[in-house]
Amino acid sequence: MLEVELAGLKLKNPLILASGILGSSISTLNVLSEYAGAVVTKSVGIKKREGYKNPTVINWKCGLLNAVGLASPSAEDFAKELKKYNKNAALFVSLYGYSADEFANLTQIFDFVDAFEVNMSCPHVKGAGFDLGSDLELAKNVIRRMKEVTEKPVFAKISAMHRYLELAKELEKSGVDGIVITNTLPGMKIDIISKRPILNNVSGGVSGPAIKPIALKCVYELYKNIEVPIIGCGGITNFEDVLEFILAGATCVELGSALFLSKKVMYSIQESLNAFLRIENTTIQDLIGRAHNFSSTG
Ligand SMILES: Cc1cc2nc3c(=O)[nH]c(=O)nc-3n(C[C@H](O)[C@H](O)[C@H](O)COP(=O)(O)O)c2cc1C
Repeated sequence: MLEVELAGLKLKNPLILASGILGSSISTLNVLSEYAGAVVTKSVGIKKREGYKNPTVINWKCGLLNAVGLASPSAEDFAKELKKYNKNAALFVSLYGYSADEFANLTQIFDFVDAFEVNMSCPHVKGAGFDLGSDLELAKNVIRRMKEVTEKPVFAKISAMHRYLELAKELEKSGVDGIVITNTLPGMKIDIISKRPILNNVSGGVSGPAIKPIALKCVYELYKNIEVPIIGCGGITNFEDVLEFILAGATCVELGSALFLSKKVMYSIQESLNAFLRIENTTIQDLIGRAHNFSSTG
């Protein structure tokens, strides 16, 4: 009932661990892979990156605010580590970079993974992430170059803050195999006693329930405009959230901040999804995009 097909990959369920939430540790990926349909690694680039100084993550009342700054080991070191992955769920590697050649190089270094996720949307690292998705020509070139060197699926992770319909349509023409939406959205918090921004980087990315309605609307709009599968991400914490994204048109969903509260959340979501699907006598695959049957206005 929970199985889905995503760009030719058969996943045991539609739940995917979102990039970066649990750091770069392989042991955590191995634990999560027991419950997830797929796991996405922390974004990795060619060179090791220190990231920003603490505080880098704040837990506020509607989710998290983070500016980790893409801290990660070098691609070569991380690739060695990833070989210890237990393969209980599909493995997607998330990549960040600054040029099409760099992405092609990274794709070759990680040629053993099941799929690639291009980070075009991190809001707090200059020149990479969000800036890549804002440069249409560069974004298209990245996808084209990656598709020249791999036959594995390449997903682009874009932001609700982009002109996301135009971007997704152009990436689709360039050969992308799916769109992930959304990354965190820019935000900040100020400490009223010290009178200064709390994050060391001043501002960062908002995640968790605060961004769910925004992400859901993006998925709904994208479903009307593109053919490639959509992976919804943003504020998903329970089975009802998952179903909303599926009904809006997502084939799969990524969970991030929810895993901060409980690593078992994927397990309880699956139990509830199974119960729901049994009662409704349906499958996840059958529910994808069903909310569009009832659209009365644009
Ligand atoms: C601490 C933290 C680190 C993150 N690191 C990455 C990252 O390396 N690459 C990436 O594409 N997204 C990263 N994200 C964004 C998440 O993958 C996800 O898109 C976002 O948090 C929204 O989903 P959520 O509301 O379920 O958390 C990070 C988010 C958090 C909170």
